[in-house]
Amino acid sequence: MEIVIVGSGGREYSIGLGLQKECRIDGIYFYPGNGATSRLGKNIDFANEQEFIDFALNHQIGLVIIGPEAPLVEGLADSLRENGILVFGPSAKAARLEGSKAYMKEFAKHYNIPTARFIQTQEYAEACAFIENLNLPIVVKADGLCAGKGVIIAESYEEAKRAAKEMLEGKSFGDSGKTIIVEEFLDGFELSIFALCDGKDFIVLPAAQDHKRLLDKDKGPNTGGMGAYAPSPLATPQIIEKVKSQIIAPTLEGMIQEGNPFSGTLFCGIMVVKNEPYLLEFNVRFGDPECEVLMPLFKNGLLDCFLACAKGDLKNVQFELESKMCVGVVVASKDYPFKNSPKEKITIESLKEGTESHISFAGVSKVKEYLYASGGRVLVCVGKGDNIQEAVKNAYTQVESVKFNGMQYRKDIAYQALGKQ
Ligand code: AMP
Ligand code: GLY
Repeated sequence: MEIVIVGSGGREYSIGLGLQKECRIDGIYFYPGNGATSRLGKNIDFANEQEFIDFALNHQIGLVIIGPEAPLVEGLADSLRENGILVFGPSAKAARLEGSKAYMKEFAKHYNIPTARFIQTQEYAEACAFIENLNLPIVVKADGLCAGKGVIIAESYEEAKRAAKEMLEGKSFGDSGKTIIVEEFLDGFELSIFALCDGKDFIVLPAAQDHKRLLDKDKGPNTGGMGAYAPSPLATPQIIEKVKSQIIAPTLEGMIQEGNPFSGTLFCGIMVVKNEPYLLEFNVRFGDPECEVLMPLFKNGLLDCFLACAKGDLKNVQFELESKMCVGVVVASKDYPFKNSPKEKITIESLKEGTESHISFAGVSKVKEYLYASGGRVLVCVGKGDNIQEAVKNAYTQVESVKFNGMQYRKDIAYQALGKQ
């Protein structure tokens, strides 16, 4: 079988790496891929959706896996399905769980899913009235997709009102901020919980923890994620059970009732407060860099999981996970996340045979036989181990093998898990 992975990041590279082990796969295409995915398969590109559909039909593509949220929200999965092509990823209507925070919050309220108290509004006066009734800090969010930037945590009432005003006037996030959500701040620790869903059934993968801030000790600006690890010891079996019964199961049930069953990856951004999980947000795809630490935990059955989700047959799926820890350290370019950095040539030393580590490539381009850092988050160094210390050591050994001008990375990935052992 030949498959296509849509996307160009480290997430898509890691899915390709995970699937490369599957002997039933004869070839992997990346649409459009990056400078390193061409080592795992073939990069392809098209002028429009119809060209892609024609390609998939002509090549009898057995499965399309859609990595990023934008094509999902725009309905790529629907167009492929209408043409009889098997797809891993939700329909546009189901992808609204990520595409519209207002939709997701109203959905959570309707189906009694625990989430922060909120209002959604298009009126400044209404936003102000709600703001005045909340304790500080106050969270103000733009409704639509904002590449992870549409959330302001305001430390004063003035700042909250200013954020609301700028969003509503379309100044900060364009049309994405024409509707806003104002909500109470939840004080706890965050977990990323991923459920593979087929519309009615789901399986939960090991809980991951992301590190969103740029600098050590969770300082500096928010980023797409500077590192992750899984499984997180902070996610106790009781918390996972609550996430399943109070968040994931009612979501799948609710989406059936709404007439838009959810299939694909349901990424639950959770805040745990006093042992109770609250839903911060849904994403309808794997997290990046969380995906890079989840894929290597599959011993077997990854392709079967994707196929079963796509076919609606998850009940009968067989798969096995490794009982290991996995840590991913993002190596970013000099000016990330503020602006684009100049392209820099990357060199990588080979490591001793048997080191349990590898690289998932993200913002890289290829010129002749060389790789250049060309994006913000350039690559993710992934280490595995029998315990968290070993996995951290293996990930940072891999980081030390990488050299390019201006590279930056956090030195404390998985510190919360290390503190627990
Ligand atoms: P979101 O895109 O909604 O997940 O928000 C991005 C980040 O903002 C989250 O990962 C949290 O760190 C933070 N955040 C969002 N909503 C809240 C909230 N209600 N209370 C505390 N932190 C929040
Ligand atoms: N790492 C968080 C995200 O992918 O949204």
